[in-house]
Amino acid sequence: MKKYRIAVAGATGAVGREMIKMLENRNFPVESVKFLASERSAGSKLTFNGKEYTVELLTKDGGKDTDIALFSAGGSVSKEFAPHFAADGCFVIDNSSAWRMEKEVPLVVPEVNPGDLKKDKKIIANPNCSTIQMAAALKPLHDFAKVKRVIVSTYQAVSGAGQKGITELAEQSKAWAKGEEIPAASKFQYRIAFNLIPQIDVFDEYDYTKEELKMTNETKKIMGDDSIMVSATCVRVPVFRSHSESVWIETEKPLSPEKAKELLSKAEGIEVIDDAANKKYPMPLDAEGKQVTYVGRIRKDISNAGNGLTFWVVSDNLLKGAALNAVQIAETLIKNEIV
Ligand SMILES: NC(=O)c1ccc[n+]([C@@H]2O[C@H](COP(=O)([O-])OP(=O)(O)OC[C@H]3O[C@@H](n4cnc5c(N)ncnc54)[C@H](OP(=O)(O)O)[C@@H]3O)[C@@H](O)[C@H]2O)c1
Repeated sequence: MKKYRIAVAGATGAVGREMIKMLENRNFPVESVKFLASERSAGSKLTFNGKEYTVELLTKDGGKDTDIALFSAGGSVSKEFAPHFAADGCFVIDNSSAWRMEKEVPLVVPEVNPGDLKKDKKIIANPNCSTIQMAAALKPLHDFAKVKRVIVSTYQAVSGAGQKGITELAEQSKAWAKGEEIPAASKFQYRIAFNLIPQIDVFDEYDYTKEELKMTNETKKIMGDDSIMVSATCVRVPVFRSHSESVWIETEKPLSPEKAKELLSKAEGIEVIDDAANKKYPMPLDAEGKQVTYVGRIRKDISNAGNGLTFWVVSDNLLKGAALNAVQIAETLIKNEIV
């Protein structure tokens, strides 16, 4: 089997570390690997398949000897470095929001729109974490009944804000448990321990946040259907890992809960946990470290005489929401003989 030269940019971050684990875990065909970060971490060590590697400084010529680069070093870094990697013939799979809405850049969830990957599109965007898991769940329902409208509320883990988000919840919780003064908020707008914050990213002129608008705009692009309307409320919750979503949809064709369960059960990358009588439904603790998107609480909307359905979606934001989806894009490039 052919093997590939891989780079991970932002390798020391919350997502980068999961990318390394995904490459190992999925036996990715790696010929060589290099781990890149800023001068803060250059020189530190990371382990891959039992071998120790020294983290190198990310530079503009990093794509010269690389077939596929997985980027998770933030938007401005990606804007600066990804075009140089791409110009050197390297495929860049980028986790930031820098390229997602560029017309020429594919925005891909492999179970939904693998056909958007092309040989001449060297920069590929990984969608927003909340959007990936929702799109994966919507796709089989949309194919059957055409989704017209989505109203979603998210319950997003602190790891969605990177390593600093994880540390902030841990430090505040530890201080609370010891009866000490709780450290002030720094990564988040307010204290996150034992609280909820209905703001992720900044507000726009319509009083939606940028995170909410990502769910609106990216869903249309991934599904290839501009007519799908999405209104999101994104909330940060004191959970370390895995995002949860309460999703309401209106479909053009009638869609019973039984049919939705059948469609979702057959869909790639989806697992249905839905047994109300036995208190079985997906929860973030169960999704941690898992490579699937869970759907449960599937039921008819009793407030809507039309075609309303409501359900609950949970997935590991660092895996399907980031590292796993990125590695699956790389696997699809190989499978479809694009790289
Ligand atoms: N966390 C999630 O659930 C999630 C999901 C989807 C997408 N994303 C996106 O993925 C990206 C990374 O997120 P994260 O959560 O992993 O953040 P993080 O934990 O803060 O990690 C950031 C990484 O980027 C590196 N970096 C920062 N500035 C750099 C520079 N100038 N040159 C080279 N490397 C640089 C850091 O290296 P140093 O160690 O040298 O600082 C670190 O490896 C962001 O764009 C984020 O929006 C995150």
